[in-house]
Amino acid sequence: MSITLHMVASLDGFIAKKDDDYSWMDVSWSAYDKGMEMTADILETIDCYIIGSRTYELALKLGWPYAEKRTIVATKRKLTAAGPNVEFYSGDLVDLAKSLAQKNVWLVGGPTLYREFFPLNLVDKICLTVVPILLGSGVALFDGKEQKLRLTDMSAFKNGMIDLWYEVVRNP
Ligand SMILES: NC(=O)c1ccc[n+]([C@@H]2O[C@H](COP(=O)([O-])OP(=O)(O)OC[C@H]3O[C@@H](n4cnc5c(N)ncnc54)[C@H](OP(=O)(O)O)[C@@H]3O)[C@@H](O)[C@H]2O)c1
Repeated sequence: MSITLHMVASLDGFIAKKDDDYSWMDVSWSAYDKGMEMTADILETIDCYIIGSRTYELALKLGWPYAEKRTIVATKRKLTAAGPNVEFYSGDLVDLAKSLAQKNVWLVGGPTLYREFFPLNLVDKICLTVVPILLGSGVALFDGKEQKLRLTDMSAFKNGMIDLWYEVVRNP
């Protein structure tokens, strides 16, 4: 089982603007001729998504990006499932990870939830999509805790975005 944290961030490390305006992600101003086409092929390889309830509610508002994939929403509230592939989880995160053996799991926000996974050594990889913009303020990607990483791959796309892949170096 591997858990990959995937976030889209500005170059100065913000993952959202305070007003949840996402227009900064549409990179209409940017092009990189040497880049490769950005495809969704990798999404086919994902077995299930894990998200926090605020990201869930935002996804319902802005448009469901997780297709028919199994989506586990962490919440302690009674929420309504957006579809047959949505399930709610309020237990221990280590038990959740154990229950997802053999799976390629993507943890896709938000920070309140994914920051709980790091100290539990539950994040194996990070895929960071960097948008060529400085937002200056907003919701920070990380919370200032030190975490060593190993670069394993990177891709530059025609729209000027880049994907950086890291392996998380285990805390002793
Ligand atoms: N740029 C990107 O790639 C990206 C992707 C996703 C999200 N975002 C941004 O992230 C922000 C949302 O993130 P957020 O940090 O505010 O919220 P979040 O992490 O999406 O959701 C937080 C909620 O998750 C639930 N939760 C967290 N830990 C839990 C646990 N151990 N067990 C059970 N439930 C747990 C709680 O829900 P209850 O209160 O319901 O119990 C908590 O209030 C938005 O600004 C969004 O735009 C950006």
